[in-house]
Amino acid sequence: MFSSNTYQNRRKNLFNSIEDGLILFPGNNPVPMNYPSNHLPFRQDSNFMYYCGLDFSHLSLVLDVDKGEAILFGDDLSVDEIVWEGERTPISQMAESSGIDRFISSSDLETFIQKKDKEVHYLPLYRADQKMFVSELLNGIDNGASKELIQAVIRQRSIKSSEELAEIELALEITCEMHKIAMRQTKHGMLEQSIVGAMEGFALSKGRRLAYPIIFTIHGEILHSNVYTNIMHSGQLALNDSGAESPLHYASDITRTFPVNGKFSPTQKEIYEIVHNMQAVAFDYCKPGNSYKDAHLATARVAVEGLKSIGLMKGETEQAVEAGAHALFFPHGLGHMLGLDVHDMEGLGEDLVGYDNKSERSDQFGLAYLRLAKKLEPGFVLTVEPGIYFIPHLIDQWQLNEKHKAFINYNALASFRNFGGIRIEDNVVITEDGFRILGPHIPRTIDEIESIMAQ
Ligand code: GLY
Ligand code: MN
Repeated sequence: MFSSNTYQNRRKNLFNSIEDGLILFPGNNPVPMNYPSNHLPFRQDSNFMYYCGLDFSHLSLVLDVDKGEAILFGDDLSVDEIVWEGERTPISQMAESSGIDRFISSSDLETFIQKKDKEVHYLPLYRADQKMFVSELLNGIDNGASKELIQAVIRQRSIKSSEELAEIELALEITCEMHKIAMRQTKHGMLEQSIVGAMEGFALSKGRRLAYPIIFTIHGEILHSNVYTNIMHSGQLALNDSGAESPLHYASDITRTFPVNGKFSPTQKEIYEIVHNMQAVAFDYCKPGNSYKDAHLATARVAVEGLKSIGLMKGETEQAVEAGAHALFFPHGLGHMLGLDVHDMEGLGEDLVGYDNKSERSDQFGLAYLRLAKKLEPGFVLTVEPGIYFIPHLIDQWQLNEKHKAFINYNALASFRNFGGIRIEDNVVITEDGFRILGPHIPRTIDEIESIMAQ
């Protein structure tokens, strides 16, 4: 974990943002997979991690705003528990490592809260067991998730410190190797799952976990496919969207797309270059004060220009983007915040994280999926992930309805039905005057990809 000073400072900062009352951060507990003692891998709650760094189950953190005091609720393991699970760090040591002065048994949490008779702030809950725990704990005094707390936490977690950036870069070191493994090992005739296993196995062998389930597929047009049963064939593209966590559970989120046989076909090259140009234009927008919605729209204009140049779109570029015609090929947003969560803080409310009073969410297909629209600030970490996809179901639906037929050459799309999709994704930090791509360089250009695949 970081030093106790980091967590003390984060809590101090939070005390200054909340007027009064108590703040409750319930830690996560293991979630049963099929019966109680056979559970899914434990993942601590990100907000709990942020404010105390303790990566153990069955803990709660309470902050008394009026007193400026942090109290850790938890218990040492019983001998019976130690028999099955082994020893764990004593609560006293956990508290000390996080700079917390007081620790109390979990069994006293309810009495502690009820006795204080103060407003209890907590964040939106996303697990059924958490919801039950909090609703029983706050029986009769539950005002729901606290808007004041949500806003304060988003403000704080949005700006990454240098030690957080270093963590994300540790995650990216593993992710870089995972992507190189995929490029080097992918061959005609292999199953996708062989590559998925090699990548996840590498992360596990380094003591790391994944930030999200791997997307590795010859059907790149399926934006979040988690099926790995296809045999890969020469002539197809493989899309690899995968990222490891850092030791302290910061995420990384990288996508590369490459030809199964190691050589891009002329058509694949054309589409790849359009996506690559989209990303280059998006990088140019990565500066404090620029809105990410403008970056998204600029990227969409590059997509339209590129698709016009190969005869798939037509008409006036600006009008096509305004109408949302490009979304047939680029139906998702340019990117999202990244941090302790791969879609950072999404559990606190997508609009509260990615939008502000100057950036309202659109309901237009495509633009509606833009998770980050507001002006960029130094310290934001975000993904830049444009893509172009050929989605047969969507093409058929739009063609049947003659949707945007002034901008789309439906006849020319017939030969692209089996193309798949291309996405290129990197993680950047916004600096005082621009941006920096985080982590080691991962082969991105056509030449770089063909060269590593030839090794
Ligand atoms: N890596 C998956 C996503 O960004 O949604
Ligand atoms: Mn992403």
